Amino acid sequence: MKLEELAAARRTHKAFGPESLAPGTLVELLSVARLAPTHHLNQPWRFRVLGPETLDALKRAAGDKEAQKLGRAPTLVAASVALTGDLVMDEEDVCATAAAIMLVLLAATERNIATYWRTPAVLRTRPGREAVGIPSGERFLGLLHFGSAEREPAPREREPVETYVEFLP
Ligand SMILES: Cc1cc2nc3c(=O)[nH]c(=O)nc-3n(C[C@H](O)[C@H](O)[C@H](O)COP(=O)(O)O)c2cc1C
Repeated sequence: MKLEELAAARRTHKAFGPESLAPGTLVELLSVARLAPTHHLNQPWRFRVLGPETLDALKRAAGDKEAQKLGRAPTLVAASVALTGDLVMDEEDVCATAAAIMLVLLAATERNIATYWRTPAVLRTRPGREAVGIPSGERFLGLLHFGSAEREPAPREREPVETYVEFLP
């Protein structure tokens, strides 16, 4: 698939089949993160694959209503960035980690795996972070969902390129 087609094929899925990704497939996907650009080559991204006990702990931290939503996808990965405390470096590292996450999502899309980059509020709380082992020196960036697509998302709407691009003199 050409990159433009792959980017168009990646969608936010909210309904998944029950089948988890094989560990080997997950490692393949997460290996692609290493190819993201990173200033100083410090590779600040961190990914934690949630096992059943961890998911239960996260659900407990989130409460009953949110727990249902946390069970939507069979495979969940918490993505975070390791911070240094240097504001410029941290900003760059957040950017690098977002780029790494996008590569992982595209690699999944290429394999016909449905994805969802979600930022549930519980992972911005101390109990939520503790449930998935994100230490205080890291910033949570996304709970990545993987699985098979149960239904297709609604057609996508986007502003045309002219609305966000300027050619300067
Ligand atoms: C950093 C980030 C966080 C997101 N968090 C949520 C979320 O918490 N809930 C949600 O419904 N969608 C979330 N999304 C998905 C967006 O809503 C989605 O990308 C957007 O609707 C466009 O749809 P598409 O991904 O199918 O192109 C998030 C996307 C990004 C990049």
